[in-house]
Amino acid sequence: MSSVRVVEHPVLQEALARLRDKATKPAEFRRLMADAGLILGLAALEKLKTAPGRVDTPLKSAKAERIAQPVALVAILRAGLGLLPKLTELLPDAAAGHIGLYRNEETLNPIRYYVRLPKRLPDTKTLLFDPMLATGGSAAEAIRILKTDGAREITLVSLLATKAGVKRVQREHPAVAIVTAAVDPVLNKHGYIVPGLGDAGDRIFGTL
Ligand code: PRP
Ligand code: URA
Repeated sequence: MSSVRVVEHPVLQEALARLRDKATKPAEFRRLMADAGLILGLAALEKLKTAPGRVDTPLKSAKAERIAQPVALVAILRAGLGLLPKLTELLPDAAAGHIGLYRNEETLNPIRYYVRLPKRLPDTKTLLFDPMLATGGSAAEAIRILKTDGAREITLVSLLATKAGVKRVQREHPAVAIVTAAVDPVLNKHGYIVPGLGDAGDRIFGTL
């Protein structure tokens, strides 16, 4: 079954508190979301394959541990984009992918409108970003799309999850690890996470 890791780092939990705050405006919200994405993404990459090497310092040759596995950073549009700016700066060689999904407001089922993925997914560590894991429908569909393209090592990076969303991903994709900052108790009848932080896409892009 998928492992679920709740990252309890105080800097992440402070960012989450400010993201939940309804007084936080879009510019600050975007900055905090990017901070959270960096911390969560690094946690998801802790087991990235490395290989021993050597580098020449100005003084002497030194042992070094180098990244030895390609990384793909895939965002579920729109809100997944908000988690990525700082992580892509830190990992300039990582390939980027985009999966466009939106939820039908009545059925809450994900509707696919765009897919563009890197080519080398089979041997790549693939991180899938979406800040909100609510019913789990969007994440489960995006993981299906990644698997169809050959991705084998997938970690779902979310900021806020629900028990129901986690269970759904675990049921449909038992080998996919989940990294998150918190698991909230419930969804309301519109499929929003409660207490949650509201509509992540609208708060990132100022479309409220
Ligand atoms: C939000 C969110 C997730 C999805 C989560 O996207 O960013 O993708 O809902 O809900 P689920 O777990 O029930 O599928 P939304 O459909 O609002 O699209 P947007 O990011 O374009 O605003
Ligand atoms: N999508 C959001 O943006 N927020 C929620 O609470 C649920 C889905």
